[in-house]
Amino acid sequence: MKMSVIGTGYLGATHAGAMAELGHEVLGVDVDENKVALLASGQVPFFEPGLPELLSKHVTSGALRFTTSVQEATAFADLHFVCVGTPQRSGSNAADLTYVNDAFRSLLQHVRPGAVVVGKSTVPVGTAGALAVDVRAAGAQLVWNPEFLREGFAVEDTLRPDRLVMGAEDDAALTTLQQAYAPILAAGTPLVITDFATAELVKVAANSFLATKISFINAMAEICETTGADVTQLATAIGHDDRIGPKFLRAGLGFGGGCLPKDIRAFMARAEELGVDQAVSFLKNIDDINLRRRARTVDLALEMCAGSFAGRRVAVLGAAFKPDSDDIRDSPALDVADAIQRGGAAVHVYDPQAMGNAKNVHPTLAYSSSALEACDGADAVLHLTEWREFRELRPADLAAVVRQRNILDGRSILDAATWRDAGWQFRALGRP
Ligand code: UGA
Repeated sequence: MKMSVIGTGYLGATHAGAMAELGHEVLGVDVDENKVALLASGQVPFFEPGLPELLSKHVTSGALRFTTSVQEATAFADLHFVCVGTPQRSGSNAADLTYVNDAFRSLLQHVRPGAVVVGKSTVPVGTAGALAVDVRAAGAQLVWNPEFLREGFAVEDTLRPDRLVMGAEDDAALTTLQQAYAPILAAGTPLVITDFATAELVKVAANSFLATKISFINAMAEICETTGADVTQLATAIGHDDRIGPKFLRAGLGFGGGCLPKDIRAFMARAEELGVDQAVSFLKNIDDINLRRRARTVDLALEMCAGSFAGRRVAVLGAAFKPDSDDIRDSPALDVADAIQRGGAAVHVYDPQAMGNAKNVHPTLAYSSSALEACDGADAVLHLTEWREFRELRPADLAAVVRQRNILDGRSILDAATWRDAGWQFRALGRP
């Protein structure tokens, strides 16, 4: 099938590559000329394992092309996926729908009658119903098809999703979308066909649930900290209960990124508009617990610096919001780094992939070219993003360069005994 993908950020670039992999002819569209030029040469403007290989394979074969022209897309295909971002609006909790509205406006100016438009962006409930009116007026049909990919696993999650969700009012449009996903459906992937509002809500409900799981275990970490209990053992023990499950119970510095934080805030903002804010008022607690972990990390670092950051040097290992990503949106690690710098310490940051993004957005922090260099002369080492290379650091190598052997594991992944045996003061969130 021929199709276009409008918006070639994380979601769109991965979706375009995945659809080409399924055997389709795909035209990616973006307003950003530089991004289009890069993608057209088979390169990816962000770090996502496996994606450069996927894109260059299909750019080379000719199955995947990129353009800045929506008109080219509407002349090329009658199936269009809208994959643009919905960031948090500045000065508000609500989602900024500017990109979604712009994408639909320009697409509907040119779309051919009978076309199918598929919304994949994460939007406040009610958005699809309103957009559907305009889509129908242009002679096309809308399907809402939320995306559940995780950064770092984007290609895998898109090609082998754990479910497909389609919200629609038109059976023919649903059939077209199912044809586009035929190999995924043939593999037995569960399909949920529903209305627009439910499809939109599935996405925010899923992210709210995941955020709640993380903040739940981090709330337990707070209790562990005052009782001497160990939150990692607690998580293992409750995770053995099938009804609870072990995933998303990693206590630590909490969640960040471009999705979970902004999605729970946008959900609260939308619920308030609908007059049902009480139903999701608990999400405010989820957000607060999450942010308290950052403050607690700063406090522990201060303890390690004997109560004052003045004249101290602190190494921050990690800048991305999670490993295998160069995404620094709402990064807990950089938030902590900033707060410690404001407290008066010299903060030296190292991340295997996110240095470029971090330097652009946080230019006053100091950046090092390796973990060892960041730790040079440090009074405290903070492990804040759990990259594999940090897990493999050897206490003796770091001991040779630091000023004080203080390490704080913000992701509860390092082996405490190994570090303590090597003479380090080892602290971790939620652990004795
Ligand atoms: C999240 C969801 O997991 C995806 O299903 C969803 O499609 C995506 O948002 C989206 O809305 O687009 P992502 O933001 O890539 O994906 O990252 P996650 O793997 O969910 O991690 C989010 C944050 O939670 C990270 O900062 C991570 O370090 C933290 N986390 C995760 C924990 O602190 N503890 C855990 O147990 C798990």
